Amino acid sequence: MNARQATARTAPDARGGAIPTHARDNAAGPSAAVPPTIEVRGLSKTYRSKREGTVLALDDISFTVEEGEFVCIVGPSGCGKSTLLKILAGIVAHSVGTVAVRGKPPSDAQNRLGLVFQAPVLLPWRTVLQNTLLPAQVLGLDPKAAEARAHDLLRMVGLEQFASSYPNELSGGMQQRCSITRALLHDPSILLMDEPFGALDAMTRDTMNLELQRIWRESGKTIFLITHSIPEAVFLADRVLVMSARPGRIVEEIKVDLPRPRDLDTMSEPAFAEAVRHIRGLFGIGGKERPHVD
Ligand SMILES: Nc1ncnc2c1ncn2[C@@H]1O[C@H](COP(=O)(O)OP(=O)(O)OP(=O)(O)O)[C@@H](O)[C@H]1O
Ligand SMILES: [Mg+2]
Repeated sequence: MNARQATARTAPDARGGAIPTHARDNAAGPSAAVPPTIEVRGLSKTYRSKREGTVLALDDISFTVEEGEFVCIVGPSGCGKSTLLKILAGIVAHSVGTVAVRGKPPSDAQNRLGLVFQAPVLLPWRTVLQNTLLPAQVLGLDPKAAEARAHDLLRMVGLEQFASSYPNELSGGMQQRCSITRALLHDPSILLMDEPFGALDAMTRDTMNLELQRIWRESGKTIFLITHSIPEAVFLADRVLVMSARPGRIVEEIKVDLPRPRDLDTMSEPAFAEAVRHIRGLFGIGGKERPHVD
């Protein structure tokens, strides 16, 4: 792997002055060695299907995500990004290698995880509020406190007026925003997000990017986010992992040193443009029209 930067632990003040609380799940005390929040070593995944036979989706993936870090992953369609996220969530089994979340198998960490899938997967017979409250029921949270928090989250994503609506009454982007409130309800310390803003219009997407940065800065969550958008990855991340086409490998890690908090003006800065250009270059996207050749 051609890692541009090592996986340096994110300094708390790198968030732009917020005081992170991300040590809260590591109750062992300051002297104890803290394992990376996510540690993946030599991971490969082979799917077996009747029609295609065996498909090597991920090949020899290794990386770590440190406590409180914001890591984005970009890669071409079909390179195994969703597969990787499902393995981290303990939903899909890997074939080779090791995966640990806070030093344990992912299935042991599920109540600390908030998951946003590529498709919203809301329950059609439950309202927006009831979908948001799903983790409260599963994890046995105090119903009154959970409902107050659900309303706060729905307000945050602009869905408060739709609390009593059913998923089929919402646009795709609204459904995805509801899946984000559901993922945040139990205040998980690790967020795994698969293309969370892919279905949103450009303006809502900008707003959600700023909101997610605020949540991360204020809460100290560790965030692992998949996106197709290179500018979005550079805007949000401390570190961007770039994947190759299938079978997915990590071809480069890019540390993003832009100061926090970032705002939409950050996207006009030369360092931002340079990082985006560099990643586009890895995918062979030069930004110029190719000459027509007959
Ligand atoms: N359950 C499955 N059975 C067989 N093959 C699968 C299965 N799930 C995914 N694949 C294959 O694994 C590869 C990686 O799929 P995955 O959904 O992880 O890609 P992705 O990077 O998330 O793509 P996209 O950006 O389009 O969402 C693809 O070739 C896909 O066809
Ligand atoms: Mg995917």
